[in-house]
Amino acid sequence: MSAAAPRTGSLRRLLVYAGRHRGLLARSVAVLLAVGALELLAPDLVRRTLDGPVRTGDVAGLLAHAGVLAVVIALGALARGLQQYVTVKTGQRVGLSLRQDVFAHLQRMGLAFYDRHPVGTLVTRVTSDVEAVEELFSSGVASVFYDLMKLALILGWLAWIDGLLALTVLAVLPVLLLVTVVFTRRSRRDFALVRAEVAATNAWTQEAIGGLRVTRLFGREGDARAAYLAHVDRLRVAHERTVFNFAFFFPTVDFLQAVAIGLVVLVGAPRILDGGLSYGALAQFVLLTNLFFEPLRDLSQNFNAFLQAVVSCDRLFAVMDTPEQVPVRPGALPADGVAGRVTFEDVRFAYVEGEPVLRGVSFDVPAGRTLALVGPTGAGKSSVVSLVSRFYDVTGGRVLVDGRDVRDYDPQSLRARVAVVLQDVFLFAGSLLENVRLHDPRVPRERVEAALRAVRADGLLARLPRGLDEELSERGGNLSLGERQLVAFARALVTEPAVLVLDEATASVDTETEQRVQDAIRTLRHGRTTIVVAHRLSTVRDADEILVLQRGEVRERGTHASLLAAGGLYRRLYELQARAAVGEDTAPDEGPVPPTP
Ligand SMILES: Nc1ncnc2c1ncn2[C@@H]1O[C@H](COP(=O)(O)OP(=O)(O)OP(=O)(O)O)[C@@H](O)[C@H]1O
Ligand SMILES: [Mg+2]
Repeated sequence: MSAAAPRTGSLRRLLVYAGRHRGLLARSVAVLLAVGALELLAPDLVRRTLDGPVRTGDVAGLLAHAGVLAVVIALGALARGLQQYVTVKTGQRVGLSLRQDVFAHLQRMGLAFYDRHPVGTLVTRVTSDVEAVEELFSSGVASVFYDLMKLALILGWLAWIDGLLALTVLAVLPVLLLVTVVFTRRSRRDFALVRAEVAATNAWTQEAIGGLRVTRLFGREGDARAAYLAHVDRLRVAHERTVFNFAFFFPTVDFLQAVAIGLVVLVGAPRILDGGLSYGALAQFVLLTNLFFEPLRDLSQNFNAFLQAVVSCDRLFAVMDTPEQVPVRPGALPADGVAGRVTFEDVRFAYVEGEPVLRGVSFDVPAGRTLALVGPTGAGKSSVVSLVSRFYDVTGGRVLVDGRDVRDYDPQSLRARVAVVLQDVFLFAGSLLENVRLHDPRVPRERVEAALRAVRADGLLARLPRGLDEELSERGGNLSLGERQLVAFARALVTEPAVLVLDEATASVDTETEQRVQDAIRTLRHGRTTIVVAHRLSTVRDADEILVLQRGEVRERGTHASLLAAGGLYRRLYELQARAAVGEDTAPDEGPVPPTP
């Protein structure tokens, strides 16, 4: 990933975020000004002390001056502390707003977006990129302006004290400028590299840990470790380059600072002897010269923070500007009252342009009826399923619910009426209760329990020592595949949907669980429109209509009996499955395979 060229307007938009925390920003600036004033005051006090009480030998005056100096230094330290607190706080607040907005936007994105962007990269956006922007506020924006102002002020003061000495300090500036430019350039390049490597490594690691089971199953841990090493090694090299830049830059600036002070003393000392300059003025000059190098050093560093933040900002806003793939039409209707008739009118769909997955699929399921989809793997069954609740939008034709295009409904209210049980069930880390009601407080405990019983998961409830409050792990590691399916069914049932879309898990489960899953599906189907991708004979047989999909097209349609009679693809699939079931324990209610005419 290359550092994108700064898009105009990114910074302006960032200022809008900062604007939300105007009060804090104003406070940072005020404290910063106080710090500056106190810092510049100290050298002046030193001059007054040296040229006043020290020269005249006035002990009382010396003590008084020392007292004032101590107070100024103490106040300066206090102000610095306050400044750090306020600026970091400002950064955090701005970061918080950004994080919320990016996350909310990611939530609205259509699934097609996630097909194209690895999760790890997106996580990096919400974490590292936001951190870079926070950093800008905590150390950058205000400081860059402050440093510039301080430089000008000190330079003016130096010139005012003694023009010749000021020129002496300026003599090292060209070298310093050259070093700074080289450093800033290299740092910018290397930081962009670090960011890119961090995102790549995060994305890779996320996938590797997610796919650990498979890796282990095939004994590929060694290769994964090697690939991981390659990633982190690239990251290390990138980091080391930035560290090298710093290791080169700071000592060089220190050295130049020492040279400048040496020159000042060299030029200044003779001037004291011939009376052109006071001791105090030389001391003040040396102290101010020291102060002069500080903003220079900060500036190059803050400038980097600034550049990094610009890159991060661009990327954050790029994510936020990616249009929602499932846009909400203005005046979208609530789907609350839909009865559940589902119609596909010549639906065409492609995940990737030019690679059609559905090529004109039509069907009509009256409310309360069941449609079964069967077909070989990759036929497009799951794709049909994901179009009903508008996970994706069609590329041609229409999907209708109750005779109205799904795009006319408010997607959220549509999804509340259309429950989807996917092929692979995702469980969140959390209790069984929350996994069923998904943190919706409107669903009472009793209803969750009733739903679990209704889908025949009472065995599961009894098995778990803490029942509903049992903690499940992220990937459902402590539940069997069948049990996970039942939890997903309960999840669908508690929302009392009008339409149930069910992508049956292909993996086989034991006969008893299979039986329970079948019973559960029957309960779920009761009184609602059901579209089911069926792998099980009994589910298919119960359907009012069966669609046989192949390569994105409807090859055959009809009832179980009529399709068997037709002797086509359905019959072949059916016989294959029936043959596979022989020898295994067939579900008791399955009955014999009906004779074919
Ligand atoms: N997110 C995706 N991005 C790109 N292509 C996809 C995506 N999901 C599925 N496909 C492709 O779409 C086609 C249909 O896939 P689909 O998942 O609908 O098949 P299916 O009938 O459900 O298969 P199975 O029985 O194995 O579940 C396949 O060729 C698949 O490679
Ligand atoms: Mg599928």
